[in-house]
Amino acid sequence: MAALKYKPIHIIFYVFSLIFTFSANSSKAELPRLLQPAKPDGTLSFLAIGDWGRRGSYNQSDVALQMGEIGQKLDIDFVISTGDNFYDNGLLGLHDPAFQDSFTNIYTAASLQKPWYTVLGNHDYRGDVGAQLSPMLRALDNRWVCMRSFVVSADIVDFLFVDTTPFVDKYFVQPNKHVYDWRGVLPRQTYLNNLLKEVDMALRESTAKWKIVIGHHTIKSAGHHGNTMELETQLLPILHENDVDLYLNGHDHCLEHISSVDSKVQFMTSGGGSKAWKGDVNYLDPEEMRFYYDGQGFMSVHISEAELRAVFYDVSGHVLHHWKTYKEALYSAT
Ligand SMILES: *[C@@H]1O[C@H](CO)[C@@H](O)[C@H](O)[C@H]1NC(C)=O
Repeated sequence: MAALKYKPIHIIFYVFSLIFTFSANSSKAELPRLLQPAKPDGTLSFLAIGDWGRRGSYNQSDVALQMGEIGQKLDIDFVISTGDNFYDNGLLGLHDPAFQDSFTNIYTAASLQKPWYTVLGNHDYRGDVGAQLSPMLRALDNRWVCMRSFVVSADIVDFLFVDTTPFVDKYFVQPNKHVYDWRGVLPRQTYLNNLLKEVDMALRESTAKWKIVIGHHTIKSAGHHGNTMELETQLLPILHENDVDLYLNGHDHCLEHISSVDSKVQFMTSGGGSKAWKGDVNYLDPEEMRFYYDGQGFMSVHISEAELRAVFYDVSGHVLHHWKTYKEALYSAT
C-alpha cells in the first residue's frame, strides 16, 4: 500500500528531474543526471536484474514474482536492469508488444512499481535502439528509464550507468549474422573517448560516500563470456583511480561475486533474469571467487552511509550469498 501511496510523487519528481537534466546538460559534455531521493533515514535499497526479456519464459515470471516479494520486504526505492532487456533482438520499434509482454505485464508486483534504471545490452543493440531510449516508452510505462550512459545521484551514493556494448570489438569486426543499430555511436572511437572522459569526470566530481558503476558487460567473470578485455583495459583503470566500490553487470547468465586481489572494486553479476545454463563456468580462482551460481535469480543491495549489503537470491527467493562492507565514519561518531 505504501508503495502505491508514494507513486504520484515519484512520477512528478521524475518528470522534473528529467526536464532539469536535459535542459541543464544539453550543451555540455556531461552525462545526464537524475536525482533519486533516499529514504527519510538516509538509506536506500534496490534490486538488480539482468538478461531477462523473454515474455515470461525460462522462469522469467518466477524470478519476477520473487523480486516482488523481496522488493516489498526491503521496501526498495528502485530497480536496476543490467541490460539485454528484450530477447533476441531488442525492440523492433516503439509499438513492439515485447515491451508489455516482457516488462509491463511481467514485473507487476506493487513493490516493483518504482523507477527502473536501465542500460542497453548487446541484444538490445540488435533492435531499434532509439525505441528503447525513447521517452515515449515512459508514456506506456512510467517506470522505464533507459539511457545510454547516465548518472543517478542518491545522496550517499552515485550510480554511473555506462553503455558498454560499443566497447566490444567483436560486434564490429565479426558481427556474424547480427545487425547492430550503431546510430548515435559512430564514429566509434570518438564515442568511446568521450564516454570514458565523461565517466571519469562524473566519478571525479562525485562527493557521494559510495560509488557504483553499472554496465551490461562483465569486467571480471567466471561465466560463459568471461572477462571483457576491452573494459579491463579501458574502463577498469578509471574505476580504480576513482575508488569505485562496486561494478555491477549482466551479460553472463548467472549470479556471481568476484573480489579481485589487486583492487578494491567488487565485481557482481546479476544476469539471471530468465535463461541460464547449468554448469556454464569457465574459471574459478578461489582467491577471487566469492560466489558463483549457474541458475536464475537476482540480487538486492541495501546502502546506508556506513554500510553496503548485497544479497543474491535464486528463483524461489532463497538467499544464496550475502556480503557486507563498511565505510569508516571519518567525520562523526555515528
Ligand atoms: C526453473 O527453475 C527451476 C529451479 O531452479 C529449474 O529446475 C528449472 O530448470 C527452471 N526452468 C527453466 C525453463 O529454466
